[in-house]
Amino acid sequence: MTNIVYVLNGPNLNLLGMREPEVYGSDTLDDIAGMLEDRGRELGLEIDMRQSNHEGHLVDWLHEAQAEGAKAVLLNAAAYTHTSVAVLDAIKAITTPVIEVHLSDPETREEFRHHSYVALGAVDVVKGLGAQSYVVALEKAAAL
Ligand code: DQA
Repeated sequence: MTNIVYVLNGPNLNLLGMREPEVYGSDTLDDIAGMLEDRGRELGLEIDMRQSNHEGHLVDWLHEAQAEGAKAVLLNAAAYTHTSVAVLDAIKAITTPVIEVHLSDPETREEFRHHSYVALGAVDVVKGLGAQSYVVALEKAAAL
């Protein structure tokens, strides 16, 4: 196993900072990557941060995390959280632990966000803390 933590981000998260800041905050994905790299350095973890608007990329990267011997995956599958059996199956197909991450708390929002396919395969979830959700999830990954 390596000390690499994959941080996978799904659709529309490339627009963080300008996208509904009242819901998701003003930090950009680059800001979050910087926060994770700083905390990762303290924890002895290397961060591999990626974002895609395409479901299959998330599936491929989950497979890759296993093949590369990643320590853990932090996964904010964004809207695919609520729709993607393919992402759930990929999580179940690998032994690498996956921690579900959300900036907002989807369960306090619209009904269609209440169900998470990712949660059916993830070992843990951190949500509702804005950018800090990622940092707390990284600390949980370090403790695995
Ligand atoms: C999100 C919550 C999802 O419901 C939404 O589709 C997103 C972002 C979050 O980080 O709060 O795109 O995953």
